[in-house]
Amino acid sequence: MKAVAIRPGTPNSVHLQEIPRPSINEIEGGNGVLVKVLKVGVDATDREIADALYGNAPEGDDYLIIGHECFGVVEEVGANVKRLKPGDFVTATVRRPGGSIYDLIGTNDMTSEETYYERGINLRHGFMTEYFVDDQEYIVRVPEGLSHLHVLQEPMSCAAKAIHQAYEAQRRMKVWSPKVAYVLGSGQIGLLATLSLKLRGLEVFTLSRSEAPNLKASIVEGLEATYVSTKVTPMKELVKQTGKPDLIIDATGFSPIAFEAMECVGHNGVVVWTSITGGDRTTQVPSDKINIEWVLGNKLLLGSVNANRTHFEMGIRDLALGDVMYPGVLSKILTNPVDGMENHAEMMRLLIEDDNALKVYVNVAE
Ligand code: BGC
Ligand code: ZN
Repeated sequence: MKAVAIRPGTPNSVHLQEIPRPSINEIEGGNGVLVKVLKVGVDATDREIADALYGNAPEGDDYLIIGHECFGVVEEVGANVKRLKPGDFVTATVRRPGGSIYDLIGTNDMTSEETYYERGINLRHGFMTEYFVDDQEYIVRVPEGLSHLHVLQEPMSCAAKAIHQAYEAQRRMKVWSPKVAYVLGSGQIGLLATLSLKLRGLEVFTLSRSEAPNLKASIVEGLEATYVSTKVTPMKELVKQTGKPDLIIDATGFSPIAFEAMECVGHNGVVVWTSITGGDRTTQVPSDKINIEWVLGNKLLLGSVNANRTHFEMGIRDLALGDVMYPGVLSKILTNPVDGMENHAEMMRLLIEDDNALKVYVNVAE
């Protein structure tokens, strides 16, 4: 069967790879699930992998099958699989366990080991293929009523984790009750974080470079949040209007902004960094100023990566509520389908060159 792969270390090496069709018997204990892949989304991480800035092949292979945002349908299940059946729509978590205590309790997203295993990204093959097999533990059911939001499940899980982590960490404040949040960046993570924060009742400002009107601004406004073009109102100017926010989620992929956020968050507040910046950019920061403000303000900086099954389930609940609260808004994120894995060159072109392509995904099968 066909798959889309890259050769790690070689930029622009995206190609079709012939691989054997997997079988549920590869998974022990009757826990295997065979998934027929319907759609796979690509994001900035795939762009970095294709640029050879990020990602590694599984041991023994010189290629990595890409794709970590998957949507598919269960084709066959092992004897021990009770909560899934053929015909169910599903997505899959991305990280697979290492050996740390965090991995052993199902929180692979929190591994304390330097090496991490991620399907489609690092040391494990991904989902851009006709079929894949995995243990039922990593397969998450997607309600049929959300199947029109298909490849958003994985990015939503990352946004859900980032926000949940912020709330978990802020239990240190005993009575933390955030009112104002900034979301930096209006890519998929920024927009989905905007949704989750709105559902938690915050006043949300989503900051992005491009001037409104544009699609991202219309999605932000559709979620009853405020879109701010930083060309018109830079973040520090916005702070003068709104006061310092209680929470800032950075999802820009641009590290200087992640540091600038540290100059804007309010006392007792939290900044969450979610971007994977595979480059080697450096920037100057007013370190004394940040240092004293952070100490005097008891502020917290939190990094958040990946998501475990619980976050997928949280994300699915947010998407479900968001889809009925703001009908038709979330599906506007899904801008650019590409038909068939053989059109991977078009997929990469859209991902790299088309600034209007908010979400590129491949229709792998009907
Ligand atoms: C993926 C995450 C992953 C992270 C780091 C993101 O694009 O969505 O699942 O943990 O990259 O590799
Ligand atoms: Zn991703």
